[in-house]
Amino acid sequence: MVDLTTKYLNLTLNNPVIVGSSGLTDTSEKIKKLEDNGAGAVVLKSIFEEEITHEYEKIVAEEATKRYKDEFLDYLDYRIKAENIDKYAKLISETKKSVQIPVIASVNCASKYEWTNFAKAFEDAGADALEVNMFFLPSNLNKTPEEIEKSYFEIVDKLKEKISIPIALKISYYFTALGQTIQRLSSSGVSGLVLFNRFYSPDIDIEKMTVTTTNVFSHPDDLSISLRWIAIMSNRVNCDLAASTGIHDGAAVIKQLLAGANAVQVVSSIYNKGPEKLQNMLKDLKKWMISNNYNTIDQFRGKLSQEKSVNPSVYERVQFMKYFSDRDRH
Ligand SMILES: Cc1cc2nc3c(=O)[nH]c(=O)nc-3n(C[C@H](O)[C@H](O)[C@H](O)COP(=O)(O)O)c2cc1C
Repeated sequence: MVDLTTKYLNLTLNNPVIVGSSGLTDTSEKIKKLEDNGAGAVVLKSIFEEEITHEYEKIVAEEATKRYKDEFLDYLDYRIKAENIDKYAKLISETKKSVQIPVIASVNCASKYEWTNFAKAFEDAGADALEVNMFFLPSNLNKTPEEIEKSYFEIVDKLKEKISIPIALKISYYFTALGQTIQRLSSSGVSGLVLFNRFYSPDIDIEKMTVTTTNVFSHPDDLSISLRWIAIMSNRVNCDLAASTGIHDGAAVIKQLLAGANAVQVVSSIYNKGPEKLQNMLKDLKKWMISNNYNTIDQFRGKLSQEKSVNPSVYERVQFMKYFSDRDRH
């Protein structure tokens, strides 16, 4: 009998495949369907820090000529925030009522930490954990790596003061010393790190002479960045690791578990193939476990992490020094 249960963020998941934060997880109806197709957990669509602050700033700008008194602006600020927080708390509580799987709330945080004051509302609404999608594009030429990194630790500290549910940080790979930063973040009091987030990327339309965006959805060959870093950091961190980006089939799930992930997150593959793709991934995972004589995930998790691999240098090889000359010889 194959047992797919997994521990992630101190939660017990029926299996390690989590549907990541996206438009796939913005209503309780959609989430029920994901559960019916086998999702081990879901991360809700993020509430964006900017959604709260920008909306307020827009209204203030439009009404600037009316010269509101400061107290009214404070009230307006409070009301807009309260409405957004209420809406999100309602999504959490409705989803919790309609599914059995863990529900992880998500905040997308871009710069400030004022929003941490509202995180308690998500805990109170029943969220099993909070994932914080944290990213500060290191394009500010006046900020040093230390200043940028400090913000991550400050936000974790502030959150820890306010909530007691497990916290996961979803981060990017844009850090000067990525390995060391992942290790330090893993000891900051978080229960998990999600490696890595994927971003809107710019492109240029040469016909229309405009700047556009490209590659909203990932491809299967985007797997390797998170695979490398899960493998390198596995057993060298003080929290769980979830792999994200480029996981499109059962084989990719198995690879990330062998590299050492506690769980994986899938988004693009479900957008492309529908929630039924989850069943297919789980079927392939079970089939592989049976043919390799594994009954539980812990029996093979991390078996090919850098630490355990017989060929650890592969994870650190980055240049193509010999690839073509070797191949040309055969
Ligand atoms: C349409 C779309 C919407 C997304 N919305 C969010 C979001 O609200 N919050 C978040 O943390 N990540 C968001 N993401 C990123 C995904 O959660 C995920 O990290 C990324 O797509 C990489 O996983 P994948 O390769 O399985 O797609 C979104 C991705 C897509 C494609």
